[in-house]
Amino acid sequence: MSTTLQPDGNYEGVPAYHYDNTAGGPVLSHHRRWEEFAATHGGFRSSIAQGYWVVTDGAAIQEALQDWQTFSSKSVTALDPEPRFLWIPEMLDPPLHTIWRRLLGREFSPKTVAAKEPEIRAVAVDMIERLRESGGADVLDRFARRFPTLIFLRLMGLPVEDLDTFLGWVHTILHLSYEQDQDRGRRLAAINDVSAYFDEQIAVRRKAPKDDLLSRVMAWKIDGEPIDDGDLHAFCVLMFMAGLDTVPISVGWALYHFASHPEHRGAILADPSLIPTSVEEILRVYSFVIPARKATRDVEIGGCPVRSGEMVMLPLTVTNRDPRRYDNPSRVDLGRRANNHIAFGSGPHRCLGSHLARLELNVAVEEWHRRIPDYRIAEGQELEQTGNMYGLKSLRLEW
Ligand code: HEM
Repeated sequence: MSTTLQPDGNYEGVPAYHYDNTAGGPVLSHHRRWEEFAATHGGFRSSIAQGYWVVTDGAAIQEALQDWQTFSSKSVTALDPEPRFLWIPEMLDPPLHTIWRRLLGREFSPKTVAAKEPEIRAVAVDMIERLRESGGADVLDRFARRFPTLIFLRLMGLPVEDLDTFLGWVHTILHLSYEQDQDRGRRLAAINDVSAYFDEQIAVRRKAPKDDLLSRVMAWKIDGEPIDDGDLHAFCVLMFMAGLDTVPISVGWALYHFASHPEHRGAILADPSLIPTSVEEILRVYSFVIPARKATRDVEIGGCPVRSGEMVMLPLTVTNRDPRRYDNPSRVDLGRRANNHIAFGSGPHRCLGSHLARLELNVAVEEWHRRIPDYRIAEGQELEQTGNMYGLKSLRLEW
């Protein structure tokens, strides 16, 4: 990533940049680059691939996410305006989306999630205890990725022995950059593997339902009709895309933050009641999801003349680090009262799994610090992050 912003042209009167959001880079480089864009532009044209619009006005991003009539979820990938696949509920617009959300809401409600706390805590404690004696590890590999992925497999009712296979798929599907996989070959192969896997899991449950989320979804009716295998499949794939990588990335940022800010680590050790605020602040400051929408009509947003059918990228980090919204926006502030970040999105598609994610994050931070309170970033490592969904590639800690 170059050090200064240089437009490489002009598109309908708006500066165009060859800024590849999917490329990896040094730790927090994308967050800083978005800050620079937001300080100078309300929006710009990306000249990557076929091109798309990017909004860098914090308030406009949130408004667009809420205005599903203008900004449809028929495509949510800026590079792919005509997807040949469907993710449910992410790529549905109301009113069908609302029906799915109402049904799914029960499975992910605060009450349902709270009931899982003992199980979630037991998994975290077991993994941290196994690590404690080692004196150091790549904590992404050994904890941040494994802990939530195991919870996810249990939630869906999938075999826990498949944990390593899932971790491999997540990496190939979600972490490869546009440059690394130009012909989409590796990514497509992994997507096909995931598809075949879910087809098999659906077929097994059609024969003999189990006591798990997938079997329950199978029994639902929408407009009086049972859910067919195609829609079930679209639901499984979305759960994979939305639920698998997100908590691992956040746990990684939390451990990175407390390792690089010993004063904050000291504060939560002295007063664990600060942990929930620290988790919210870490979600805000390190927010990593970059949604996109497809315009249903000509509209101007962030100074960009968007035409019907064009894609618009809406980086949440811009709103979450907006100086008009927060004092010292890029700073984690354990005393901050405003808790209106949009790390879980905004509008009808706001994260279905936010209660589960928050619980997992709080449990991870609590149990880690109870057992491994004193640690540091191992010397000599160059901290790199992935593009697309911004997470650390690895994080070696010593204790
Ligand atoms: C810290 C962790 C997480 C973050 C930051 C996060 C963030 C998000 C964001 C920003 C969206 C909206 C995307 C958009 O508007 O296009 C979203 C949607 C979604 N998330 Fe999460 N998520 C997290 C964890 C989870 C978990 C653990 C699950 C489930 C196990 C989950 C399930 C979903 C689903 C199903 C949607 C789609 C909702 C819809 O389309 O109505 N997420 N998430």
